[in-house]
Amino acid sequence: MSTDTVAIFDTTLRDGEQSPGASMNTVEKVEIARQLVRLGVDVIEAGFPISSPGDFESVQAIGRAVGDAVVVCGLSRAVPGDIERAAEALSTAKRPRIHTGIGVSESHLRDKLRIGRDEAVERAVAAVKLARTFVDDVEFYAEDAGRAEPAFLYRMVTAAVAAGATVVNIPDTTGYTYPGEFGALIAGLFEHVDGISGVTVSVHCHNDLGMATANALAGVAAGARQVECTINGIGERAGNTSLEEVVMALRQRREYFSADTGVNSREIMRTSRLVSTITGIPVQPNKAVVGANAFAHSSGIHQDGVLKERSTYEIIDPVDVGVGGSAIVLTARSGRHALKHRLEELGYDVPAEEFERIHTAFLELADKKKEVYDEDLEVLVGETERTLNEVFHLAQVHFTSGDPGIPTATVELVTQSGEHIIDSSHGTGPVDAVYKAINRIVNVPNDLTEFSVKAVTRGIDALGEVTIRVTAEDGRVFTGRGAHSDIIVASAKAYTNALNRLLVSVKPTTLEEL
Ligand code: KIV
Ligand code: ZN
Repeated sequence: MSTDTVAIFDTTLRDGEQSPGASMNTVEKVEIARQLVRLGVDVIEAGFPISSPGDFESVQAIGRAVGDAVVVCGLSRAVPGDIERAAEALSTAKRPRIHTGIGVSESHLRDKLRIGRDEAVERAVAAVKLARTFVDDVEFYAEDAGRAEPAFLYRMVTAAVAAGATVVNIPDTTGYTYPGEFGALIAGLFEHVDGISGVTVSVHCHNDLGMATANALAGVAAGARQVECTINGIGERAGNTSLEEVVMALRQRREYFSADTGVNSREIMRTSRLVSTITGIPVQPNKAVVGANAFAHSSGIHQDGVLKERSTYEIIDPVDVGVGGSAIVLTARSGRHALKHRLEELGYDVPAEEFERIHTAFLELADKKKEVYDEDLEVLVGETERTLNEVFHLAQVHFTSGDPGIPTATVELVTQSGEHIIDSSHGTGPVDAVYKAINRIVNVPNDLTEFSVKAVTRGIDALGEVTIRVTAEDGRVFTGRGAHSDIIVASAKAYTNALNRLLVSVKPTTLEEL
């Protein structure tokens, strides 16, 4: 039996970024885009260009960075200004796609758009036609299709296809459907939409009832040949379909679906770690495919079975998703060339100046912890990137603490113009004292809402990585990260990082707000 190819449309940088606190800057987005290319996705949805100058810039930068390796897509509403802005942002892309669309459920037509069905169809047709004047590849989305009346959905999709859409996206925007129902909705397209065989049907599912992956696969079983998904399933509310789940489900059950993807599954774990590190959104331990426990067996019966024959209790070989760790361990004696070579193997193409900084940080770390693993290197690269273009740079931090004793901290921050500012404070603990001292200098109102610390690798000498979230006065959430072998220093770095992000951010507008 022949195997069809299902295209993977990754929307980590657009829908995934809509998770609270997941906002990323352009450098971070380009880094993820490069990794998505190594992973072998077919389409990267790089942003929503009209929503903010930052999104516009990221779409342009990603277009430049990925060349013709992948299709680069920009989102727009069925509004001329959005489409023109998306086209402008995509001017750097070798393989551009405009993604445009409109709501199709009664709820969206009546309560959000306040228009009738005829007008919605007219706007959709005009949008697709306008987008086609800029690019040959236009994807049409029928927002909230999961709650729409199927007959109207089919009428809308028929009109979009006739207007020139090359891909039609059927989103279950609110995560409302269940697999049988969603599969039937997709199957209906092939019965009721003229011209459907000439376009790609795409599925885009949200996870409000935990059905996102199941619904996407039901869509594939019914004939969809593109799945929209995010790394680790991050996204609006309960998230989107997880890329890794869909890819491994199709790989494991290729015969059942008569379909597979072109993804290099061995890059899955690394991509998952990178996205988690950059967004600050941890992966739950029991998450399918990429969770820390996904390949852990604790019961004696299971352990006995796996030792005799892995497949007794394990349907995925961990090696196939990049679990197993690298055999390469660097030490202080490894030298510049070995470090550069390993970074290249890990996919980092760092400019000379940045390499010098990473090398210095590597030597400091190797002195302290003797063996430096890939995970440590990934953190060092992240640390170096975070210190580029900072509003405030943490030059030094000192603290005392104890019981009894008054936790006290002194920090020195350097501004972009080179001014050195020193201040001190006491607090309920050393982290509190450090944060209060930083606040006295930066002076921007915020609430610390989350604080977590994890060891990057095993052992008492491991790097500690601190991830925090602060909420600004206008309710926006910013994530900050910092790594150091001393967790109080890592905490100071994480807080400075979050405040820097808050200070430079321009409020983007989400699709829901527009
Ligand atoms: O969930 C949704 O409907 C979307 C569309 C904009 C594709 O994200
Ligand atoms: Zn969505």
